[in-house]
Amino acid sequence: MGAVSAPATQQLVVRRWEPDDVPALHEAVLDSIEHLRPWMPWIAKEPLGLEERRQLVAGWIASWETGDRLCGLFVGDRVVGCAGLHDRIGPTGREIGYWVRAGETGRGYATAAARTLTDMAFTMPGIARVEIQHDVANVASGRVPAKLGFTPVREVPHVPEAPGESGIRRVWRVERDRWWARRADLG
Ligand SMILES: CC(C)(COP(=O)(O)OP(=O)(O)OC[C@H]1O[C@@H](n2cnc3c(N)ncnc32)[C@H](O)[C@@H]1OP(=O)(O)O)[C@@H](O)C(=O)NCCC(=O)NCCS
Repeated sequence: MGAVSAPATQQLVVRRWEPDDVPALHEAVLDSIEHLRPWMPWIAKEPLGLEERRQLVAGWIASWETGDRLCGLFVGDRVVGCAGLHDRIGPTGREIGYWVRAGETGRGYATAAARTLTDMAFTMPGIARVEIQHDVANVASGRVPAKLGFTPVREVPHVPEAPGESGIRRVWRVERDRWWARRADLG
């Protein structure tokens, strides 16, 4: 992890959350509730209080070695988003999720974060594939795996969980060998 470049951006840093990041994360989420509402089911529980946010982040930090790996996206001290490597598609795969703060989209942050997390996944023993899933109505989200060379592998119906969702989920995948074969082209 560390600094990764994103086109036309200030330097973006993708790193694991630390307890001291909670106030900056809290501000970023509170700033972004209506922006995230169409696509992120968990936003229905917002606004959380600061203490609830602390507990949430403590859980993320605790899960790093054995489960999900949640990272903050930072430009300086400012939280511009969150991205995670989720342990929910079986022992040989990881799924990437992401959101970017309101007003910070369109700067390549989600793509840069997903690139960093895919690198991370394929340095973990036993991980053979990485997937990104999104509702087909979420066109911006689908641009991220497309730009990184993931392949769309299937579309599956699902019960919409957030107001913007259509009920069809698209799954994109990249395998380890293919990722490293074209990784140098991705910057
Ligand atoms: C989806 C999301 C994470 C993308 O973050 P981002 O930092 O703007 O992503 P990037 O800048 O790396 O790439 C976004 C791409 O989507 C495109 N895009 C943005 N809005 C779009 C729209 N309404 N229709 C079509 N394309 C769109 C951008 O042009 C860009 O593609 P390009 O580089 O080919 O021009 C951000 O929009 C977001 O946080 N959305 C709400 C939460 C969410 O949907 N999370 C994903 C759930 S699956």
